[in-house]
Amino acid sequence: MRRLSGWKAFSERKARPGRVRIALLSLLVGVVAACSSPPPESATGPELYSELCSSCHGAGLEGKAGPPLGVGSPSVTLPDSYIATTVTHGIGTMPSFNNLSSDQINKLVDFIRDVQAGQ
Ligand code: HEC
Repeated sequence: MRRLSGWKAFSERKARPGRVRIALLSLLVGVVAACSSPPPESATGPELYSELCSSCHGAGLEGKAGPPLGVGSPSVTLPDSYIATTVTHGIGTMPSFNNLSSDQINKLVDFIRDVQAGQ
């Protein structure tokens, strides 16, 4: 009679729940860090715009989920202070960016004005 033994298969099973937990934890930490850490103070206007705004307003300010901000858009006639306030506090479905310094907000406004002026 053949002996049926499953011990080998059992001992070779490599269930390591610890690894899964560590992977999930590092993923979570990464997501939280990406959401909350402000860009470096050295970031330029174009860098700030492409990192924070282009996903909604388009790489060329042509508009996507958010309205266009470039040449010929209504934003051309908006005062700088309105743009700064909109960025800091958000508007409608646009999130607030209240972790930016006033210098970073000025760089964003300058960048938008440069594009509007065709530079
Ligand atoms: C998640 C998408 C999203 C992101 C990211 C985003 N915006 Fe917006 N933005 C919008 C939407 C949507 C509106 C229109 C909101 C409304 O009027 O209800 C808007 C409106 C604006 C307005 C006002 C335009 C107008 O004609 O009144 C400005 C200025 C603006 N955004 C600049 C920025 C800047 C600068 C950034 C980056 C710091 C940025 N937005 C990031 C979605 C976004």
